[in-house]
Amino acid sequence: MDLLKKKIREEGVVLSDSVLKVDSFLNHGVDPQLMDAIGEEFAGRYGDESITKVLTIESSGIAPGLMAALKLGVPMIFARKRQSLTQSEGLITSKVYSFTKKEENTISVSGKYIHEGDRVLIIDDFLANGQAAWGLIDLAEKAGAEVAGVGIVIEKSFQDGGGNLRQKGYRVDSLAEIESLEAGRIKFKEDKAA
Ligand code: G4P
Ligand code: NA
Ligand code: NA
Repeated sequence: MDLLKKKIREEGVVLSDSVLKVDSFLNHGVDPQLMDAIGEEFAGRYGDESITKVLTIESSGIAPGLMAALKLGVPMIFARKRQSLTQSEGLITSKVYSFTKKEENTISVSGKYIHEGDRVLIIDDFLANGQAAWGLIDLAEKAGAEVAGVGIVIEKSFQDGGGNLRQKGYRVDSLAEIESLEAGRIKFKEDKAA
Protein backbone atom coordinates (compact mmCIF):
# COMPACT_ATOMS: atom_id res chain seq x y z
CA MET A 1 0.00 0.00 0.00
CA ASP A 2 1.88 3.02 -1.34
CA LEU A 3 0.30 5.73 0.82
CA LEU A 4 1.19 3.78 3.96
CA LYS A 5 4.74 3.09 2.85
CA LYS A 6 5.23 6.76 2.00
CA LYS A 7 4.04 7.69 5.48
CA ILE A 8 6.37 5.12 7.08
CA ARG A 9 9.32 6.42 5.04
CA GLU A 10 8.55 10.04 5.92
CA GLU A 11 7.60 9.69 9.57
CA GLY A 12 8.82 6.31 10.83
CA VAL A 13 11.73 6.39 13.27
CA VAL A 14 14.00 3.36 13.49
CA LEU A 15 14.63 2.85 17.21
CA SER A 16 16.78 -0.26 16.86
CA ASP A 17 17.38 -3.14 14.43
CA SER A 18 13.98 -4.50 15.43
CA VAL A 19 11.72 -1.63 16.47
CA LEU A 20 10.04 1.00 14.33
CA LYS A 21 8.37 3.97 15.97
CA VAL A 22 5.27 5.27 14.18
CA ASP A 23 3.79 7.41 16.92
CA SER A 24 2.86 10.25 14.58
CA PHE A 25 0.13 8.32 12.74
CA LEU A 26 -0.58 4.91 14.29
CA ASN A 27 0.48 4.38 17.90
CA HIS A 28 -0.16 7.75 19.51
CA GLY A 29 -1.22 10.33 16.98
CA VAL A 30 -3.68 8.78 14.53
CA ASP A 31 -4.06 9.96 10.94
CA PRO A 32 -7.77 9.70 10.07
CA GLN A 33 -7.27 9.95 6.30
CA LEU A 34 -4.66 7.22 6.36
CA MET A 35 -6.91 5.06 8.57
CA ASP A 36 -9.73 5.61 6.09
CA ALA A 37 -7.50 4.37 3.25
CA ILE A 38 -6.35 1.42 5.35
CA GLY A 39 -9.96 0.47 6.08
CA GLU A 40 -10.76 0.70 2.38
CA GLU A 41 -7.81 -1.54 1.52
CA PHE A 42 -8.78 -4.24 4.04
CA ALA A 43 -12.41 -4.07 2.92
CA GLY A 44 -11.30 -4.49 -0.71
CA ARG A 45 -9.27 -7.54 0.18
CA TYR A 46 -11.94 -9.16 2.36
CA GLY A 47 -15.09 -7.92 0.62
CA ASP A 48 -15.86 -11.40 -0.78
CA GLU A 49 -15.18 -13.24 2.47
CA SER A 50 -18.60 -12.88 4.13
CA ILE A 51 -17.06 -11.20 7.18
CA THR A 52 -19.54 -10.64 10.02
CA LYS A 53 -17.18 -9.06 12.61
CA VAL A 54 -13.84 -7.35 12.86
CA LEU A 55 -11.86 -8.43 15.93
CA THR A 56 -8.91 -6.37 17.15
CA ILE A 57 -7.06 -5.57 20.39
CA GLU A 58 -6.70 -2.37 22.34
CA SER A 59 -5.27 0.11 21.91
CA SER A 60 -3.54 0.54 18.57
CA GLY A 61 -5.63 -2.02 16.70
CA ILE A 62 -8.80 -0.02 17.26
CA ALA A 63 -8.25 2.75 14.70
CA PRO A 64 -7.50 0.50 11.70
CA GLY A 65 -9.98 -2.11 12.96
CA LEU A 66 -12.79 0.40 13.19
CA MET A 67 -12.18 1.70 9.69
CA ALA A 68 -12.05 -1.82 8.26
CA ALA A 69 -15.34 -2.61 10.02
CA LEU A 70 -16.95 0.60 8.76
CA LYS A 71 -15.97 -0.17 5.15
CA LEU A 72 -17.08 -3.80 5.45
CA GLY A 73 -20.35 -2.73 7.05
CA VAL A 74 -19.92 -4.95 10.13
CA PRO A 75 -19.40 -4.35 13.87
CA MET A 76 -15.97 -4.20 15.45
CA ILE A 77 -15.03 -5.69 18.79
CA PHE A 78 -11.74 -5.15 20.57
CA ALA A 79 -10.15 -7.57 22.98
CA ARG A 80 -9.31 -6.02 26.33
CA LYS A 81 -5.95 -6.37 28.02
CA ARG A 82 -7.34 -5.53 31.43
CA GLN A 83 -10.55 -6.89 32.74
CA SER A 84 -13.32 -4.34 32.87
CA LEU A 85 -15.32 -3.94 36.07
CA THR A 86 -18.59 -4.15 34.19
CA GLN A 87 -17.53 -7.19 32.21
CA SER A 88 -17.55 -10.67 33.65
CA GLU A 89 -20.38 -12.72 32.25
CA GLY A 90 -19.49 -15.08 29.43
CA LEU A 91 -15.93 -13.84 29.28
CA ILE A 92 -13.62 -15.66 26.88
CA THR A 93 -9.93 -15.34 27.74
CA SER A 94 -6.55 -16.17 26.27
CA LYS A 95 -2.99 -15.71 27.49
CA VAL A 96 -0.60 -13.63 25.40
CA TYR A 97 3.12 -13.44 26.04
CA SER A 98 4.90 -10.31 24.86
CA PHE A 99 8.55 -10.88 23.93
CA THR A 100 9.02 -7.12 23.82
CA LYS A 101 7.72 -6.49 27.32
CA LYS A 102 8.62 -9.92 28.71
CA GLU A 103 5.27 -10.30 30.39
CA GLU A 104 2.19 -12.41 30.05
CA ASN A 105 -1.21 -10.77 29.69
CA THR A 106 -4.67 -12.20 29.74
CA ILE A 107 -6.81 -10.80 26.95
CA SER A 108 -10.56 -11.15 26.82
CA VAL A 109 -13.75 -10.63 24.87
CA SER A 110 -17.35 -11.14 25.87
CA GLY A 111 -19.06 -14.11 24.26
CA LYS A 112 -22.00 -11.77 23.82
CA TYR A 113 -20.34 -9.99 20.90
CA ILE A 114 -18.62 -12.86 19.14
CA HIS A 115 -20.01 -16.34 18.77
CA GLU A 116 -20.79 -19.32 16.59
CA GLY A 117 -21.80 -18.28 13.10
CA ASP A 118 -19.43 -15.31 13.06
CA ARG A 119 -16.80 -15.09 10.36
CA VAL A 120 -14.07 -12.89 11.73
CA LEU A 121 -11.44 -10.64 10.23
CA ILE A 122 -8.68 -10.05 12.78
CA ILE A 123 -6.93 -6.67 12.54
CA ASP A 124 -3.83 -5.38 14.33
CA ASP A 125 -1.35 -2.56 13.91
CA PHE A 126 1.90 -4.58 14.06
CA LEU A 127 2.82 -8.18 13.46
CA ALA A 128 6.11 -9.12 15.11
CA ASN A 129 6.29 -12.47 16.88
CA GLY A 130 2.61 -13.04 16.37
CA GLN A 131 1.60 -13.52 19.99
CA ALA A 132 -1.23 -10.98 19.84
CA ALA A 133 -2.54 -12.47 16.58
CA TRP A 134 -2.51 -16.00 18.05
CA GLY A 135 -4.32 -14.70 21.13
CA LEU A 136 -7.03 -13.14 18.97
CA ILE A 137 -7.35 -16.31 16.87
CA ASP A 138 -7.68 -18.30 20.10
CA LEU A 139 -10.43 -15.97 21.39
CA ALA A 140 -12.36 -16.16 18.11
CA GLU A 141 -12.09 -19.94 17.93
CA LYS A 142 -13.02 -20.41 21.61
CA ALA A 143 -16.10 -18.29 20.87
CA GLY A 144 -16.99 -20.75 18.10
CA ALA A 145 -16.32 -18.22 15.32
CA GLU A 146 -14.41 -18.86 12.13
CA VAL A 147 -11.26 -16.86 11.32
CA ALA A 148 -11.25 -15.64 7.72
CA GLY A 149 -7.87 -13.95 7.98
CA VAL A 150 -5.52 -11.63 9.77
CA GLY A 151 -5.11 -8.07 8.47
CA ILE A 152 -2.00 -6.24 9.63
CA VAL A 153 -0.97 -2.65 9.04
CA ILE A 154 2.80 -3.22 9.42
CA GLU A 155 4.41 -6.65 9.37
CA LYS A 156 8.02 -7.03 10.36
CA SER A 157 8.90 -9.93 8.09
CA PHE A 158 12.23 -10.51 9.83
CA GLN A 159 10.33 -11.71 12.90
CA ASP A 160 8.53 -15.01 12.69
CA GLY A 161 4.87 -14.18 13.44
CA GLY A 162 3.69 -13.90 9.84
CA GLY A 163 5.59 -16.98 8.70
CA ASN A 164 4.13 -19.10 11.49
CA LEU A 165 0.56 -17.97 10.87
CA ARG A 166 0.80 -18.66 7.11
CA GLN A 167 2.43 -22.02 7.73
CA LYS A 168 -0.53 -23.00 9.91
CA GLY A 169 -2.84 -22.10 7.04
CA TYR A 170 -4.10 -18.70 8.15
CA ARG A 171 -4.49 -16.00 5.55
CA VAL A 172 -2.39 -12.96 6.48
CA ASP A 173 -2.68 -9.64 4.65
CA SER A 174 -0.10 -7.04 5.60
CA LEU A 175 -0.33 -3.59 4.06
CA ALA A 176 3.39 -2.89 4.53
CA GLU A 177 6.03 -5.56 4.98
CA ILE A 178 9.32 -4.54 6.47
CA GLU A 179 12.20 -6.83 5.67
CA SER A 180 14.85 -5.08 7.68
CA LEU A 181 15.49 -2.13 9.98
CA GLU A 182 19.24 -2.64 10.03
CA ALA A 183 21.64 0.29 9.97
CA GLY A 184 18.79 2.67 10.76
CA ARG A 185 17.24 2.04 7.35
CA ILE A 186 13.67 0.95 6.61
CA LYS A 187 13.79 -1.69 3.91
CA PHE A 188 10.43 -2.88 2.57
CA LYS A 189 10.10 -6.42 1.32
CA GLU A 190 9.67 -5.49 -2.32
CA ASP A 191 12.56 -2.98 -2.44
CA LYS A 192 15.04 -5.78 -3.17
CA ALA A 193 16.94 -3.98 -5.90
CA ALA A 194 17.31 -0.67 -4.08
P1 G4P B 1 3.60 -9.84 18.84
O1 G4P B 1 2.20 -9.69 19.35
O2 G4P B 1 3.66 -9.82 17.34
O3 G4P B 1 4.29 -11.07 19.41
O4 G4P B 1 4.40 -8.60 19.32
P2 G4P B 1 5.04 -8.18 20.72
O5 G4P B 1 4.40 -8.95 21.83
O6 G4P B 1 6.49 -8.17 20.54
O7 G4P B 1 4.47 -6.67 20.77
C1 G4P B 1 4.16 -5.99 21.95
C2 G4P B 1 3.64 -4.62 21.61
O8 G4P B 1 4.59 -3.92 20.79
C3 G4P B 1 2.34 -4.58 20.81
O9 G4P B 1 1.68 -3.39 21.10
C4 G4P B 1 2.87 -4.52 19.35
O10 G4P B 1 1.91 -3.99 18.48
C5 G4P B 1 4.03 -3.60 19.52
N1 G4P B 1 5.11 -3.71 18.54
C6 G4P B 1 5.86 -4.79 18.21
N2 G4P B 1 6.85 -4.43 17.38
C7 G4P B 1 6.71 -3.10 17.18
C8 G4P B 1 7.44 -2.13 16.41
O11 G4P B 1 8.44 -2.40 15.73
N3 G4P B 1 7.00 -0.85 16.47
C9 G4P B 1 5.91 -0.47 17.22
N4 G4P B 1 5.56 0.81 17.16
N5 G4P B 1 5.21 -1.35 17.94
C10 G4P B 1 5.62 -2.64 17.92
P3 G4P B 1 1.00 -3.12 22.50
O12 G4P B 1 1.98 -3.03 23.58
O13 G4P B 1 -0.03 -4.16 22.66
O14 G4P B 1 0.46 -1.67 22.41
P4 G4P B 1 -0.78 -0.90 21.85
O15 G4P B 1 -1.63 -1.77 21.00
O16 G4P B 1 -1.48 -0.41 23.04
O17 G4P B 1 -0.13 0.17 21.05
NA1 NA C 1 1.13 -1.43 19.36
NA1 NA D 1 -1.03 -3.89 18.77
